[in-house]
Order: sequence, then C-alpha cells, then structure tokens
Amino acid sequence: KTIAGTFCHAPILGEIEILRDALVEIDGEGRIAKVVAAGSAAHAETRAAAEAAGTLVVAPPRSYILPGFVDLHIHAPQYPQLGKALDVPLEVWLQQHTFPLEARYANLAFAKRHYSALVDDLIANGTTTALYFATQHVEASKALVDICLEKGQRALVGKVAMDNPAECPDYYRDSSAEAGIAGTKALIDYVAAHPENHGLVHPVITPRFVPSCTDPMLEGLGELARECGCHVQTHCSESDWAHGYVLDRFGRTDAETLDRFGLMTRRTVLAHSNFLTDGDMDLIQACGAGVAHCPLSNAYFANSVFPLRAALAKGVRVGLGTDISGGPTASMIEAQRMAIAASRMLETGVDPALPQGARGRPGSRIDFDIAFHLATAGGGDALDLPVGQFAPGFHFDAILVDPDAPGGTMRIWDDIDSDEDALQKIVYTASKANLAAVWIGGRGVSGEAL
Ligand code: GUN
Ligand code: FE
Repeated sequence: KTIAGTFCHAPILGEIEILRDALVEIDGEGRIAKVVAAGSAAHAETRAAAEAAGTLVVAPPRSYILPGFVDLHIHAPQYPQLGKALDVPLEVWLQQHTFPLEARYANLAFAKRHYSALVDDLIANGTTTALYFATQHVEASKALVDICLEKGQRALVGKVAMDNPAECPDYYRDSSAEAGIAGTKALIDYVAAHPENHGLVHPVITPRFVPSCTDPMLEGLGELARECGCHVQTHCSESDWAHGYVLDRFGRTDAETLDRFGLMTRRTVLAHSNFLTDGDMDLIQACGAGVAHCPLSNAYFANSVFPLRAALAKGVRVGLGTDISGGPTASMIEAQRMAIAASRMLETGVDPALPQGARGRPGSRIDFDIAFHLATAGGGDALDLPVGQFAPGFHFDAILVDPDAPGGTMRIWDDIDSDEDALQKIVYTASKANLAAVWIGGRGVSGEAL
C-alpha cells in the first residue's frame, strides 16, 4: 500500500525532517519501497498508480505520521506492579517486590494473561519495537514470543539468566550456570524455529546484571554470544549499590567486567549506565554497544542521572527505555519528556558539593528534537535494526498522531503552529488518545483500520 500524509522523523541526531504531503510506498514485506516528496513528478505518478490499484491510504487532515517508538529497555513481567513500590532502594525492591512477582511467571496462564495486557498497552502507546527482559522461566519467555508474534509487535525477548545464590533467592533463580545457559539456548532455538516468525521477533542473551550471575554463567553466555551473534542485554552501572558491588567483586567496572566475559558486542544494549567512567564510554564506543537511557527509572532507583550529552559526544549509540516497572509508565512519549527534564536538572541543578554558585554540568540539556531521535532512530541504530526512520529498506513501523482525536491532550492551531511546532507539541503534550493508528511492518495493529 501507499500512505499519503505528512511524515516527521529524525534520522540524524539533532535534526528533524518533515515531509509535508509526501507518499510512502510499502512493499509486500512491510518495508518502505520509496519515499516520494510532494510536488515531484514521481509524486503525481505514484499517487495515481496507487489510486488506480485501490491501495492508497490517506491520513486524516492535520495528522502527522511518526516512526513508531523503540523501547530499548523494559521488563515485561513487571507490568502488574507498574506504579507500585517506588519508594524503596533497588536492592530492596528486587528482593521484596520484583523477584516474588517475577517468580509467579512459572504459572503459564498467569504469564499469558499479563503479557497479553502489556503488549496491547505498549502497541496502543506507539511502541513498535521492544527490547524485553522476560523472566528466568523458559516456558513463560516462549509465551511472550508467541504473544508478540500474534499481536504483531516487533520484539527482542530474553530469558533472564540469574544463578548466583548469594544474590538470587532459592525460589527464583537458575539452578546452575549450565541450566541458565541451556535455557537461553532453548529460547534462541524456539525463536529461530518458530513457524510464524518471519524476522519479527529476535532472541536476546540476558544476564540480569553482574551481581545476579556467577562467573561460569557470565563466561558461558559470552561464549554463546560469540557463537550465535545474538543481541545481548544487561543492566550496567545502574545505582551506586549495583556499581559498587561489581567494583568490590572484580575490582573493575561493569563495562570492563562484561567485556572480559565477551558480553560487549555490537549487538549489546546496556541499560542505565549512569556511573560510566570516561574509559567505560570509550570501551562501549569501541565495541559498538548501545545504551538504554531510562530517565524515569533512574530518578527512582539509580541515585543518578545518565550523562547523555557526554555519551553522545563520545559517539556512543543511545536509545530510550521505560524500564517498566522501575519507571512507572508504558509511554515512550513520557520517557522522552523525562529525558528532557532530567537533562535540564543535570545542567542546572544545584549540587551542594560544588563550590558556592556553581551549578550542574554545563551543556547537558537536550530538547524535543534529541529526545525524539533517541526514541526512534537512535533506538533502531542501537539495535542494529532497520527501524525508526522513513527510508527505503526500513520497516514501515509508524504511528498516526491525530491532534483532534477525542480525549487527546494536545492542541494545534493552524494560524500559529508550524509543522515543527506540531512535532514539539506532540513530544511535550500528546497522549495515548492522540495515537489514532499504529503500523508494524506495514500491518495495522492498533486504532483505525488504515
Ligand atoms: N537490576 C537488576 N534487575 C533489575 C530490574 O529488574 N530493574 C532495574 N531497574 N534494575 C535491575
Ligand atoms: Fe531494568
């Protein structure tokens, strides 16, 4: 089909491109075949051909089409506790709230019910690609794969590896490193052999974080990463407790430790990464790994703000994550807003440790253009997947934003707002109700049948 509308995207960090009244032609595989700007000869031709074939889809007036959001860090099983237990430290939250909840996914019916609700909610919020932590259980992780395939969400799913008896409770851990590695392989094989999977879902090697894994587990998963070339995800230097734990155990930072175990690859995504040293950033950049910046969760659990501008200046690939349920929202629009707010606080917040009159870290702030890039093209780039922008060969994963949708929270004034103003207002004021339709791989998965 061919979609006619006004497309906004941000393929290059710090730049917004708006294609007013353009056409995007989608091929049989759900990828973008061509993007045709208004006013060209090709535009009239393409439009006429699509009209004749009955494949032209025209977006409503005043609407905008954006790339779907890439949630680069989310714990699928934690959705039922969204908005709960945000007032305790990370290590207490894990032991008292999160591990008991995740353990319940041993029950497959429970897993299916909650995973279905989550995937529906994410799609309705415009998340077209999600990099998921599932739980330690192989069967429930397979169920999450099935649900993403059934609902048509692009997803990367990891069975969580966690075998360290010193940090994981008896009722919720891999019985041995071998068992955790075998379970990880089982999920990889399941995804590869799934008859309905035509590249929509990918498996991920997922050591929860260094503290929850023994050395043999980290070693085995590193070997597996080398053998299969799969994505890898983990938490990296999140809070001062988590960061200090790894320093105590290895005398090295998280990034250095992960690298020694072979877990820092071009397809690795490190969640949080708040306490990175300069050397860590160089290492991450050299390995081509990415960072999932989770600003809302960082406010509650990390005792820190991720130094985003410093990482970007080093050429580190960065995307945004909700970190459900460390972050209490399924909305990647809210994640963008929080990324902006956090950057402002890092820049101008008063740190009592600084000399009197000194404030924050100069040059830290970002605005909507950078946040929008991170939530779309930046996330796609960190995953090495062709998503997050409107260009030939990229998957047509997109959202239709209708400022006039009933129940929406944004206003656009034709006599005041430019297209760029409209995008700015989408980032700062749109809500789920404004997302009138969502496509993944060219398939309408939510909202109006378009
Ligand atoms: N570190 C280890 N596990 C977790 C988790 O589930 N959430 C967060 N935010 N940090 C973690
Ligand atoms: Fe997390």
